[in-house]
Amino acid sequence: MTKVLDSVAKETRKIPPKYNFRKKAYIKNFAEYKKLYNESIKTPDKFWAKQAEQLDWFKKWNKVYYWNKSKLECKWFDGGKINISYNCLDRHLEKRGNKTALIWEANKGKGKKFTYKQLYKEVCKFANVLKKRGIKKGDRICFYMPMVPELAIGILACTRLGAIHSVVFGGFSPQSLKDRIDDSRAKILVTSNVNLHGDKVINMKDSVDKIINTCKSIKYVLVNKRLNIKTKMKRGRDLWLQDELKAKDIKDYCEAAKMNSEDISFILYTSGTTGKPKGVVHTTAGYLMYTYLTFKYVFDYHEEDIYWCTADIGWITGHSYIVYGPLANGATSVMFEGIPTYPNPDRFWQIVEKYKITIFYTAPTAIRALERYGDKWVKKHDLSSLRLLGSVGEPINPKAWLWYYNVVGNKKCPIVDTWWQTETGGIMVTPLPGAMDLKPGSTCFPFFGVKANVYREDGKPTRADEGGYIVVEQPWPGMLRTVYKNPERFRKTYFSNFKGGIYFAGDAAKKDKDGYFWIMGRIDDVVNVSGHRLGTSEIESALVSYKGVSESAVVPIPHPIKGNALYAFVTLKKGLKGSDELVQTLRKHVARSIGPIAKPDKIQFADSLPKTRSGKIMRRILKAIASGAEDVGNITTLANPEVVEVLKKERI
Ligand code: WT7
Repeated sequence: MTKVLDSVAKETRKIPPKYNFRKKAYIKNFAEYKKLYNESIKTPDKFWAKQAEQLDWFKKWNKVYYWNKSKLECKWFDGGKINISYNCLDRHLEKRGNKTALIWEANKGKGKKFTYKQLYKEVCKFANVLKKRGIKKGDRICFYMPMVPELAIGILACTRLGAIHSVVFGGFSPQSLKDRIDDSRAKILVTSNVNLHGDKVINMKDSVDKIINTCKSIKYVLVNKRLNIKTKMKRGRDLWLQDELKAKDIKDYCEAAKMNSEDISFILYTSGTTGKPKGVVHTTAGYLMYTYLTFKYVFDYHEEDIYWCTADIGWITGHSYIVYGPLANGATSVMFEGIPTYPNPDRFWQIVEKYKITIFYTAPTAIRALERYGDKWVKKHDLSSLRLLGSVGEPINPKAWLWYYNVVGNKKCPIVDTWWQTETGGIMVTPLPGAMDLKPGSTCFPFFGVKANVYREDGKPTRADEGGYIVVEQPWPGMLRTVYKNPERFRKTYFSNFKGGIYFAGDAAKKDKDGYFWIMGRIDDVVNVSGHRLGTSEIESALVSYKGVSESAVVPIPHPIKGNALYAFVTLKKGLKGSDELVQTLRKHVARSIGPIAKPDKIQFADSLPKTRSGKIMRRILKAIASGAEDVGNITTLANPEVVEVLKKERI
């Protein structure tokens, strides 16, 4: 590992916040950040009790924070009663009833705007539909939806009732959807007849129909009518969402349930190192507190801001920073159905100009892709409304950082490069934009309450500039509480690498001599493609499930836009031969089993794979071969060292 880490380019530039930005910021200099940070770490009870006053409670908590390291039991604001949807909607009605809460930009054609009052009513109606269909506190509702307002409304309706939502990204395959529905035993699936992406019309309901008859827990499928086209509906089970919402008995008032602080708010499945996705469990008060506060300080949010996060609500970024964080703050949040290159590669900039976006949050993969089309697409638009830029999902290389800063931000907008995970609920290591100098490629400092550190293998902190594992030494309010129905996997994945309740994130990182964090990517068998997290073992098991394939190993290779691409080594059953046709078939097969994002870019057929004497595939070596390295490192532990040269020669 050390070798990889040490090779990361040395970046020494420092970019201080501009006076105009700092003047208005909540945290105006490093000393202020440090003071609050120290307080949040030394006296978390005091710090978080004060912050929690900014939320609306039905009943205050008894204890701010409880952590049992041996049982891995974590509670925030225990004894409190609160509701997420209430905090995102009801409490704003008096002051911001007519303020725009949500702007929906359609793929093509007219979008929609919702004031807080309108959004509140829509959420109440949706909640009443769920109630009418028998949904109670604690029931699971699965969403398989495009980026339409009904998705934001639907999840807010769930948290209103205390029903647990589980959003499955619309790009996942029917099989992936089924696995997630079955694991959570969801009673209702909310979906859409179609998903519109640029020129493409994807029939989502057809995908759902491939598996839904086999999902035993499902009672109803609510179908959003995105386009008026012929759609197969099964009587008694499939209901048009719009008809349900229009029904006479559906009122636009629904009381918000008084939830316990530690009641589950949602499950979100994410890839890990084994084949089966993990249902990451978030709860109520801590998650709300954490997304509220990170949104406020990281984006330095002020009442007049127009904020746009380009993520999909199918990922945690969309949950926390399109819906919950912004709305809990009473912000105006933009959501976009389409893609950055449709109708032209200036769609993002056109939207920024159209709504006078002030805060823009996107992913490095999008930045790199748009940079390729050239500055002219950016320059066509008046982006002077922008005052802050954000990045999330993967390391942003200094070159892309500087393009984003110079061309998109016109050298006046700080960039917040935010490191976090599905499991962390909210942003963990990040610049506070008015408080500190930025270094391109660094995620800067831990957020309040986050005791982040970098450890060596043996649990000792690393020296300055020495690579290691990023860890968090004490719980924070947004921390996942468990893996759904799998506490053992929770313990093993996050708390078994280091003793004493230390959270292990799975990323490599270093701290430089100024204490800045630099994230260096995953150290486990998780690959980040275009900011999407994929378990290589999931892809491998998809490949092996195809007839004739006997073994496979999937590794990341660097890609100029996606960050990483996937390279698969495949061995076939005796007597079979690889062909271009089989490559295409296997790629399609993976897309069908997991989703198009998991398709390997390259597939190399091999007679055998490099293995240790105990039979373990040495992925480190395959990774080196796939990336075209001459020196693949130490091969003395291999049982079959001779395969290395063959694989090198046959590399594609
Ligand atoms: C993994 C988490 C956090 C929401 C989106 C992804 C990588 C995330 C950064 C960043 C370098 C980053 C890490 C992390 N990652 N943000 N700013 N710099 N790497 O959520 O799907 O749970 O993936 O994304 O490897 O572990 P996720």
